[in-house]
Amino acid sequence: MNPSAPLDPFGRSIDYLRISVTDQCNERCLYCRPAGYRGWSAGPEHLTASEILQVARAAVRIGFRHFRLTGGEPLLRPDLLQIASGLSALPGIETLSLSTNGTRIAAVAEALRQAGVHSVNLSLDAIQPDRYRQITGGSWEEFWEGFQAVLRAGFKTVKLNCVLLRGVNEEELRPLAHFAAEHQIPIRFIELMPLSLLQEARGDLFLSVSEAKEIISGGQNLLPLPDHRPGHGPARYFRDPHSGAVVGFIGALTTPDFCGSCNKMRLTADGKIRPCLGRHGETDLREALRNHTQDAEEILRQALANKPQDHEFTRGYEPARPMTALGG
Ligand code: 5AD
Ligand code: SF4
Repeated sequence: MNPSAPLDPFGRSIDYLRISVTDQCNERCLYCRPAGYRGWSAGPEHLTASEILQVARAAVRIGFRHFRLTGGEPLLRPDLLQIASGLSALPGIETLSLSTNGTRIAAVAEALRQAGVHSVNLSLDAIQPDRYRQITGGSWEEFWEGFQAVLRAGFKTVKLNCVLLRGVNEEELRPLAHFAAEHQIPIRFIELMPLSLLQEARGDLFLSVSEAKEIISGGQNLLPLPDHRPGHGPARYFRDPHSGAVVGFIGALTTPDFCGSCNKMRLTADGKIRPCLGRHGETDLREALRNHTQDAEEILRQALANKPQDHEFTRGYEPARPMTALGG
């Protein structure tokens, strides 16, 4: 527990900020963006490294302790190392993590660890190269190079993230658990959230965590690990009796009271504070920072006061812009 964490109107301690440093990506995951979608090009709407640090300093002042760099694909941003070292040097910050697809990290994994990144989450939705390409449009070999470099660099925590996709990656789930066990890292299976602007990349692909548990365990029981918390997110962890892997499940749509333990807010690539991924409300920070109309601390507090109780994913939420912009 962080006693200095600010509270939202529902009594939740909010001390985790996810920072999307770019909305661009070198992959095109079928649940995230349509093939050929090129994203916005980097432009004046995107926060600079120093603006990101300014927001983070304000967040630390009001009690935030955990920060994650995400995207889009954060490694596309040329000043990522500078952002990471700026963040890790802030007094009061406890963890700095990075979410990446892993395909561009090989050359800089060591430098990122030295810049103070504690923990890396790698997206991995399939282990078979053909299926990896089908889902992401990218190359398994590039992922593999990145993955090995991340393991070699000696981060405190490395985790895998797999989005559950009906009709696409059910056969991958058990091999993925074995892969995680072999490398002694946890893997989390995540329910698909309706965040894609592509209609066909939504309802039909949805696979629940209870179905995934069934597939992975083959009808045997997964052993609950209630005290296992390798990260700061909402995953619930189990031991898979087959592979021995630590498997986490993020059931954003089917877990009752999923939002009850929420501890985060998001900073979007274009400088808005988004209190909840599954609600449209955002507060603009960028213009306030640039025009000196209001300070970042005040805007963060305002966003916190507007944090909704829960998401609207099961109540007809319609995304207005892709997750890459929001800070996956
Ligand atoms: N639903 C669930 N997870 C998603 N991710 C991206 N889009 C979605 C979605 N619509 C995942 C990525 C990555 C993490 C940051 O979020 O695959 O693992
Ligand atoms: Fe938190 Fe919103 Fe996600 Fe719920 S949907 S867990 S309130 S960010």
